[in-house]
Amino acid sequence: MVPPAATASTSLPGSHQAQAPVGTASAPAVKDPAKDTILTPRFYTTDFEAMAAMDLRPNEAELEAICEEFRKDYNRHHFVRNEEFEGAADKLDPQTRKVFVEFLEQSCTSEFSGFLLYKELSRRIKQNNPLLAECFAHMARDEARHAGFLNKSMADFGLQLDLGFLTANKAYTYFKPKFIFYATYLSEKIGYWRYIAIYRHLEKHPESKIFPIFNFFENWCQDENRHGDFFDALMKAQPDTVRGFTARLWCRFFLLAVFATMYVRDVARKDFYEALGLDARTYDKEVIIKTNETSARVFPVVLDVENPRFWIRLERLVRNNEALSAADAADVAAPIKALRKLPFWAANGLEMAKLFLMAPIRSEAFQPAVR
Ligand SMILES: [Fe+2]
Ligand SMILES: [Fe+2]
Repeated sequence: MVPPAATASTSLPGSHQAQAPVGTASAPAVKDPAKDTILTPRFYTTDFEAMAAMDLRPNEAELEAICEEFRKDYNRHHFVRNEEFEGAADKLDPQTRKVFVEFLEQSCTSEFSGFLLYKELSRRIKQNNPLLAECFAHMARDEARHAGFLNKSMADFGLQLDLGFLTANKAYTYFKPKFIFYATYLSEKIGYWRYIAIYRHLEKHPESKIFPIFNFFENWCQDENRHGDFFDALMKAQPDTVRGFTARLWCRFFLLAVFATMYVRDVARKDFYEALGLDARTYDKEVIIKTNETSARVFPVVLDVENPRFWIRLERLVRNNEALSAADAADVAAPIKALRKLPFWAANGLEMAKLFLMAPIRSEAFQPAVR
């Protein structure tokens, strides 16, 4: 489903028309969106009526306080490009350039996906749930800025994502509101830890700062942190989303799905992290441990990421994924390809089931002071 309002207003800072020969920084070529796979960012839609009818009273004061923070718009003047960007793209060697553009594209797509969802939510619930609508409008503002800023960097490489095309043509995944809460909460908090980990690393190793966009990550990640706090407060306003047996199962499922997807994807793109002087596995491990710890503030259970078997199983997913990519690349008929891939899909299913069944950690035990 395509949210109609989103289609009508996808012009972000950073979108501009090509006038000169395309494929240059002044006239970027429109890049075809990357092929959809289980690892590419998703676009979401939800039950807007249920969202509009949501009773916020159990945690209204906290939500009001968060909205007040959003109103302050701390990063209003942050996303302004400076002279450091001039000629920066030309300094990258072809291989680094390739992996960096992929990173920009993936980040831009996921920021834009947040923008579309928040904007549509804000529009649809405005009448019946003004406080929630206002929070979503502020978050849509932030995500539009983030996506626009990334798209401008893509333009430095002579490319640009056609966000209008993406809006109209990407498949939208429908999630009930509580699943939207789990998925977006995790993507905001993991986004915070991802950006801050890169920022802190590059602070210590300025020689690895391959592009000036990383200078903006510190304030940027504070936006993501506030967005995550908003969903934390929203789940506490709907306590059944984070209470009871079913909620515990779903939280485990979402934590695992988000961590496993990120790990497999990042290890497959380890060249990008190497270009920054980072080891993809070490970086992901740190981000997963931090996000897991943060999630214990609101989720009733978190994963046992200190257990070595957790990482052994993630590595098996990585190997299966490599085999799947190799099968994909082979020059054979589609049915044969599918047949060759079958055992690796099955093996992935089995590993995911084993990961899911690993004993979780009750959050009260994990972080009693916070809760
Ligand atoms: Fe963002
Ligand atoms: Fe965000």
